[in-house]
Amino acid sequence: MKENQQWSSKLGFILAAAGSAIGLGAIWKFPYIAGVSGGGAFFFIFLLFTLLLGLPLLLAEFLIGRSTQKDAIESYKSIAPSSKWHSIGYLGMITCFILLSFYSVIGGWIILYLVKTIRGDLDGLSQQEYGELFGATISDPVLSIGAHLIFMIITIVVVAMGVQKGIERTSKFMMPALFILFLVLIFRSVTLSGAMEGVQFLFYPDFSKLTSETILAALGQSFFTLSVGVSVMVTYSSYLPKDSNLSQSAISIVGMNIMIVVLAGLAIFPAVFSFGLEPNAGPVLLFNVLPTVFNQMTFGMVFFVAFLLLFLFASLTSAFSMLEIIVSVLSKGDTKARTKWSWIIGLIIFAVGVPSALSFGIWSEVSIFNKTIFDAADYLVSNILMPVGALLISIFVPMKMKKSHLYDELTKGNALSKRLFNVWYFLMKYVAPIAIFLVLLDVLGVWKRF
Ligand code: PHE
Repeated sequence: MKENQQWSSKLGFILAAAGSAIGLGAIWKFPYIAGVSGGGAFFFIFLLFTLLLGLPLLLAEFLIGRSTQKDAIESYKSIAPSSKWHSIGYLGMITCFILLSFYSVIGGWIILYLVKTIRGDLDGLSQQEYGELFGATISDPVLSIGAHLIFMIITIVVVAMGVQKGIERTSKFMMPALFILFLVLIFRSVTLSGAMEGVQFLFYPDFSKLTSETILAALGQSFFTLSVGVSVMVTYSSYLPKDSNLSQSAISIVGMNIMIVVLAGLAIFPAVFSFGLEPNAGPVLLFNVLPTVFNQMTFGMVFFVAFLLLFLFASLTSAFSMLEIIVSVLSKGDTKARTKWSWIIGLIIFAVGVPSALSFGIWSEVSIFNKTIFDAADYLVSNILMPVGALLISIFVPMKMKKSHLYDELTKGNALSKRLFNVWYFLMKYVAPIAIFLVLLDVLGVWKRF
């Protein structure tokens, strides 16, 4: 049976695309990478990359998807027939496959903490005890693999039903609720004693802390949080009616994302400094710090449960998009095949993610290129595959899509001034490919050899 592949409303698309973008990247990963990378300078570069590269690329993916109304492979094929450009789609599918395998491990952590908080295990502990409890929880193989499985099963079930129905209904009230809860949390965090040091850490750029690696990390992080470079946004915008306003959607998604990144940073860093912790704790940062902040609020644990629920939801909507891009290609619009492929691919992804889950416990000593399995998988996706995908898209669009066609397509749902269009086109054609290329070369140490 053929499915009816279209968002029921424009808002539905924005919510789903924003749902894909806003997730672990902004809430969990940004603070931890910023913490490891020295704070303010990282944030500044991240912002720059998001606005100058991420936003134009997001719009480019929207244009590919909506103009062709096809999946991540067919869309490239229909623009550039009998060429190899559709490999960009395959690269995106492989990237999402690996990405979801470890993303789901962190999603599992949220589920574990949700259950523990509801059971009252987190009531009134000290900062140190929270750290220990979390360490013990994620190093337990049964718990972490079990939770990873639950996260994957939820993702599979929703994608099998068809994301449109699954996401549209719930996103409408979840996103605003997440914003409000963050505001409450920040109020508590910035009023802790010594909190200003954390605010300064996040916003004051000390450029002497920048290295080639942190610049690449900022690039990867900006693509990661916007879900660009992997054709997820091509897929989502292919379900979009022709008259929708693409540039406005892209701007609002980028705006929301930056806002969440700032909110998450403001919720976490003031507390880190107030408690005398180190900002470079790594992937455990959020889970170590936030329980203590909530614990210092009246009805703190009730708020924490609400926060975890919204956090889980935000992560799930991102996970759906990663599985969706793969399933939409394999099932080619057939409903029965969709269910089958969701389960097959989803369960394989679960299995591939098991070593990542174990790398926080019994396999913590196993290393690949001096990194734990989890860190290596994340590095491969965020710092190599996503930038390469983005680079290819930034070459593909100006090369294979006519400028006049792009302008027509972009102005279909709205009146975009010619000048703004030219700015976008310039960023796409010159700035994005050159900048991404240079950042990648820099990490390979090519400059130093001269
Ligand atoms: N943007 C998502 C997040 O920040 C991650 C993601 C990347 C989702 C790529 C889909 C594709 O959590």
